[in-house]
This record gives sequence, C-alpha cells and structure tokens, in this order.
Amino acid sequence: DVGAMADELGFKCYLVGGVVRDILLRKTNEDIDIVVEGSAPEFAKSFADRHGARAAVHAKFKTAVVIFPDGFRVDFATSRTEYYHFPASAPMVEDASIKNDLFRRDFSINAMAVKLNKREFGTLLDFFGGQRDLQDKKIRVLHSLSFVDDPSRALRAVRFAVRFDFMIGPHTDRLFRHAVNLDLFERVQGQRMFLELKYILSEKNYKKALRMMRKYDLLKFFHKDLRLDERKEAQFDSLEMILDWYRFQFDEEPELYIARMAVLFSDLEKSAVKDILERFQLDEHKTLEHSECFKQVKDSLAWLKRSKKMPNSVFTRHMSRMATPCALAVSALVGEIFEKQVKDYFSVYRYVKPDIGGNDLLAMKIEPKTEYSNLLSAVKDAKIDGKCTDRESQLRFVAELALK
Ligand code: CTP
Repeated sequence: DVGAMADELGFKCYLVGGVVRDILLRKTNEDIDIVVEGSAPEFAKSFADRHGARAAVHAKFKTAVVIFPDGFRVDFATSRTEYYHFPASAPMVEDASIKNDLFRRDFSINAMAVKLNKREFGTLLDFFGGQRDLQDKKIRVLHSLSFVDDPSRALRAVRFAVRFDFMIGPHTDRLFRHAVNLDLFERVQGQRMFLELKYILSEKNYKKALRMMRKYDLLKFFHKDLRLDERKEAQFDSLEMILDWYRFQFDEEPELYIARMAVLFSDLEKSAVKDILERFQLDEHKTLEHSECFKQVKDSLAWLKRSKKMPNSVFTRHMSRMATPCALAVSALVGEIFEKQVKDYFSVYRYVKPDIGGNDLLAMKIEPKTEYSNLLSAVKDAKIDGKCTDRESQLRFVAELALK
C-alpha cells in the first residue's frame, strides 16, 4: 500500500532500521520506520488522508508520524542525503540516497532497508553486511567515527548485544573503549542518557547489560559512585524473585525499569541521586516522580531495618504510600525477615477496607465529622491486625474510640 502510493507520488520508499533487523531475526517489532526519498511530510499527509488517519508533521526535521484511529503509528523520515556525488554512470547511483541514509546509522544490523515501491517490492538492501553480522551474532559499527558522532550508541550496543546475545565485534570494541577514554558522554543529552538506561533496565537480561557497562567502564557516566558488585547483583536477584511472584499472583507487569533503577541507585547518597536526576533533565513531573520513588526507597529501607518487627497495619500504612514499583524495590532490599509481611501486604492488606462507613458514624451521631476519616482508618488498621473483622465489632470499636 505504501509502495503503490510512493509510485503515484513519484517517491521512493523503504522500510528501514530495527523492524528490518527483527523481520530477519523473525522477531516481532511494532515500530515501523519508513524512509522516503522525496518529502516524508507530503507522503505521510497523503497516506494519512487515504487511510482515515492523522499525520503529525515535524517540518524542521522533515519527518512525520501517521497515527491510525486505533493508536497504531508509522514513522516517516525524509532520506537524510537527497543525492550524493556519484558519477552518473556508477552502478549504485540509483540507491545513492538511501545508501547514505543507512550509512549514518549505528550498527550494520540496524542499517538495512527493504524497498517498498511496487516494481521492486521486498528487495533487501544490505550495503554494510548486516545479514552476515546477524548470522555471526555481531554488533559492528559502520565507520570509525560512529561513537564520536553519537556516543549514546555505546549504550545501544550494550542493549542490542544483550538482547540478542550478540558480541561486540573486535574493531567496534576498540572504538568503544576509545570513546569511553575520550569522555564523550558529557555531550550526550540528559534525556537520552535516561532513556538509554531505562531501555537497558527494561531488557530481560539487564543484569548482563549492567555487567557489560561495568566492563566498559560506562557506569561512571551516570555517577562516579555507581557500583555493580556481588551484593548489588544479589539484590537484583531478590528483586526478580519478588517480581516473578507479583506477576504470577496478579497477572500484571509493574513498571520494571523504575523498580530496577531504584535498586541500582539504592546505595548512592541522596545528593548523588539528585545529581543524576539533574543530569537527566526530565520534565518537572517526571523528575519529581523519580526522585520521590528513590527517596522513599532509601528512607523506607532505613526505617524498616531499624524497626525490625511491626504490626501489619503499620507495615501496610508505610508500604501503601509508595507506588508499586518502589514498594517492590523496598521488598527486595529489605531482606527475608519481611518476606511474609511483604507478600501479605500485596495480596491481602492493601485491599482491606472497613466494613462500616461515614453513614454509620452519622447514625451513631459521632462528632466532629472532621474526625471521620481518622476513625475509619483506625478501623481499617484494627481489621488488618485481626482485632475486629466484622461490622458489629467494628461499630463497637469505633464507639469506644469516639468516647475517648
Ligand atoms: N539509530 C541510529 N543511531 C541512534 C539511534 C537510532 O543510527 N543513536 C537508527 C538505527 O538504524 C535504528 C533506527 O535509527 O535501527 C531506529 O531507532 P530506534 O527506534 O531507537 O531503535 P530500533 O533499532 O528500532 O530498536 P528497538 O527495537 O529497541 O526499538
């Protein structure tokens, strides 16, 4: 369909990047990237019109995203070099523009394209040995300046190596180490650093990725005090155990990266975490959300370790102040003494509600009404601690409390 429209408009269109790699690896990928030789915004607008979709255009970058009513998105980018100085007789002249576009990409496995125009529909363009590297399980840059052009590619290399169980090619490995020595990472935008860490921590094999970051000395670019030692690895193992349990119990996936990031940062001083978040340059809301989480995890750990034992109601009140991923991080870090209480909290206590309500308190003529919510939480606490589990005993309990 894209191909037919490309023919009509006289453009050339290609499927590019990660989706081509994943088709060859027979993996699913819903991020469709299309490169247009011509004008991506113009193409995207016509494509959206024809399919009852919406096109959002980024005129400055000559890109556009088409959003279908069901939320499905397709990204369009204009081929980055329109034409190149090849002699007209050169055999590759026809593909010069797309070849240049692909040459600017990160790794050979991500630099393949599939032609979409009708006449040659489905032809794979692989100028840089991407297929061979997929077979050899290798991450390889296309040229020596790749990491200099974009140092965040080092983090991408780690992510892909771990995701596909690939190795970093020997030449790429040398360039990688060189980039680390040159301290190029200062140049990487904060949000990019955050996103790359988030993606790495969202990978199933993130522990291996962190080990690789340690090997290449990349952790220091997040913070000089950031460590991955045996203790930290054991903490990650505990976290994965509690996450498995959580998934199995509730058939729901909590936001993994936040829980894992909270564990990764849990030994850092508060000021270090603050530095990291400043470096990430997230928007105000995100900064607050993350700093709250990391702070709560740290404070909560210190408090739980000091307190050792406490009634279930106190434990519940404490845990319920935290978002689920943060509460899970605390659970992983706090150790076995709290294991039963953690599991009971997630499966039972956090859902407990009093069996009586404001209307009952009104009927009992309890005053002042401003105390109702306190009284009801006291009832809830008592119920969690097994002191009054039915309506009758809760009414008696609240009457006694009100008298006091
Ligand atoms: N790309 C690049 N350099 C970067 C980021 C991206 O060259 N620093 C190119 C790669 O060709 C990549 C494509 O842009 O395939 C799309 O980028 P992105 O969507 O981030 O990556 P994917 O390869 O699609 O990976 P994922 O499967 O994780 O989405």
